[in-house]
Amino acid sequence: MLIPNMNYSHLKTSYLFYNIAQRTKAYLAEHPDKKLLRLGIGDVSLPLCDAVIKGLHQAAEDQADASTFNGYMPECGAPFLRTAVAEHYRGRGVQVADDEVFISSGASDELGDILDLFDRSNRSLIIEPAYPAYVDANVMAGREIVHVPSSLDNGFLPLPDENTAAELIYICSPNNPTGAVFDREKLKAWVDFANAGGSVILFDAAYEAFIEDESLPRSIFEIEGARTCAIEICSLSKTAGFTGTRLGYTVIPHELERCGMKLNDMWVRNRTTKTNGVSYIIQRAACEVFTPEGQRQIHENINIYKNNAKTIMKALDAAGIEYTGGKNAPYIWLRCPGGMGSWEFFDKLLNEMQIVGTPGEGFGRCGEGFFRFSTFGSPEDTEEAARRLAKL
Ligand code: MLT
Repeated sequence: MLIPNMNYSHLKTSYLFYNIAQRTKAYLAEHPDKKLLRLGIGDVSLPLCDAVIKGLHQAAEDQADASTFNGYMPECGAPFLRTAVAEHYRGRGVQVADDEVFISSGASDELGDILDLFDRSNRSLIIEPAYPAYVDANVMAGREIVHVPSSLDNGFLPLPDENTAAELIYICSPNNPTGAVFDREKLKAWVDFANAGGSVILFDAAYEAFIEDESLPRSIFEIEGARTCAIEICSLSKTAGFTGTRLGYTVIPHELERCGMKLNDMWVRNRTTKTNGVSYIIQRAACEVFTPEGQRQIHENINIYKNNAKTIMKALDAAGIEYTGGKNAPYIWLRCPGGMGSWEFFDKLLNEMQIVGTPGEGFGRCGEGFFRFSTFGSPEDTEEAARRLAKL
């Protein structure tokens, strides 16, 4: 008899963002005349920048001519894009070789797939509140999860101590959902811990482009010692509006070895078996993000989201609500007013103000009593939401 993966029975019935989408759909079905202000899932609202659109058109033309046509792409990424990403790092003073960069179809896909590199007996340490896909991917794989709760007391940036024990460590900085960012000293504490015990850090840098404070690290490879203990997973979803276009990249240093196995070589072996690469058209367009003009244009969009953050923060300040994030990250993490539970606050905002946010409990038990706003909505919706929030 076939036995399905019984680990699925340990998952929550539905994925957080799917659950929210279902609830909002049900609300709209009952109230078809209402317009919702969507500050829930971190999905971008601005279109792709002009440089990327031109790249997409040109790449489509390339596919129309036998002399420029591309069939299967190299599994680990097109050399032109691997070089563009590596040069982008090197331009910021972070030494990354072209063949340490792997092109992926997005950070969330990669965060699940990369677990193939690690034995099931490894424990995964997840700092909570956390992006729920970390937990779900590990539950599906049947791995033991070490939940490390964080709070306002440690600025949502816990450090390892003598009781910390895990082989895989997830760090998301700037953090989704709290917006907290590890500074160099704190990140070094995790790097030293990983090197001392032989664990590996999976560093989710999906929001690095939102860091304003230049003293904060945008890559874990800015930290001494990281090349022997870390994998960095990054994405153009939030940086360049690729949520629907799909493209990410992963950096695995050649020095990263465990039990005589080089993780970079293992990932080449994995990708060459399990993928046929990301589409030529998308990779060619993604290259435009790393040109000076592409960088200028994506930062114009990022600044619009940053203005959204200011608009929400002003409303929360006026309402006397405590929050973190918003400055170096596109999320604002607030304490629910009046001691409300996070799903209770979700219902209140939806029913009374037609605002959709994300309940903190969805990011782990210690997120109960908190709530997250995304700043990726349209400026018009964000301003209207802020006006309504001020009434809180
Ligand atoms: C979020 O809202 O946390 C993210 O948009 C989800 C994602 O990137 O998959």
